[in-house]
Amino acid sequence: DWTMGAYREEMIAKIRDQVGDKKVICALSGGVDSSVTGILLHEAIGDQLTCVFVDHGLLRLGEAEQVVQMFRENYNLNLIHADESALFLGALEGVSDPETKRKTIGKLFIDVFQKYADKIEGAEFLAQGTLYPDVIESVSFSGGPSVTIKSHHNVGGLPEKMGLKLVEPLRELFKDEVRALGHELGLPASFIGRHPFPGPGLAIRCPGEITRDKLDILRKADAIYIDQIRKHGLYDEIWQAFAAILPMRTVGVMGDGRTYDYALALRAVTSVDGMTADYYPFTHEFLGETSTRIINEVKGINRVFYDCTSKPPGTIELE
Ligand code: XMP
Repeated sequence: DWTMGAYREEMIAKIRDQVGDKKVICALSGGVDSSVTGILLHEAIGDQLTCVFVDHGLLRLGEAEQVVQMFRENYNLNLIHADESALFLGALEGVSDPETKRKTIGKLFIDVFQKYADKIEGAEFLAQGTLYPDVIESVSFSGGPSVTIKSHHNVGGLPEKMGLKLVEPLRELFKDEVRALGHELGLPASFIGRHPFPGPGLAIRCPGEITRDKLDILRKADAIYIDQIRKHGLYDEIWQAFAAILPMRTVGVMGDGRTYDYALALRAVTSVDGMTADYYPFTHEFLGETSTRIINEVKGINRVFYDCTSKPPGTIELE
């Protein structure tokens, strides 16, 4: 794409101009916006950039490894893989209120990011994947899928607090343009086309208290659900699809034994911008097959529900 190619060159020149020979840090989330930001910065300033990928223990099955591997295989940038899951899961113990979960995660994220930033001597800039819609929406966040530290974690003022200046190369772009730029920069198509994933991750797909046990069950069930969606060729028709583990156990029967296990909700919606959404009309056959697979393959689940609530009145996430 000629236009994107020209834009890329223009952005690189601007970044070099702004940053000079100073150091920059960038938080990678695994989402498209922060990935494109990191790659663009790397192209502009190379080793002056350090990216930090914070694993809060609330990612999907194999996700942290996949993100880190994708970067290591395709881009030779300084990348810190910060496994801080014990810290986050410890702080979330006993927390069941949705807003307290978000605040706990948001605050810890800043502490952790600060800790890693402190180790990078002479860092003067923070790169963020702020998009044009984020700019015009100001900083008030109602749950958009974009991944900047501000909106992502509902906490403003990070760069000010850290004494860092902002680099925001995507400020003039819309989501589809960021995807085109990602393509131009060589991001794999599978990566660019991924469904949005919220900053607080699986925490808001596990209503009630979060335990490692529930997270493990949820990860396995979610992976099977997404596998089913891909196998049926439906992934790109859907804005977002995921499983949520419900805070209830119900009775079931398996073989000649009684089970008393968790119930799982499956969610899938179509949407243009995440602000409104329609539930996805799967066939009964698809739902039956998926439910059977999950119950047979995941220990700890004996009942599967499909969420047919649109937004409004429901939200996309369960919390
Ligand atoms: P809701 O659940 O509000 O979600 O209908 C709308 C879109 O926003 C995502 N979402 C979040 N993204 N931090 C994020 O980065 C959050 O706290 C958050 N809450 C919801 C959600 O996945 C959907 O795409």
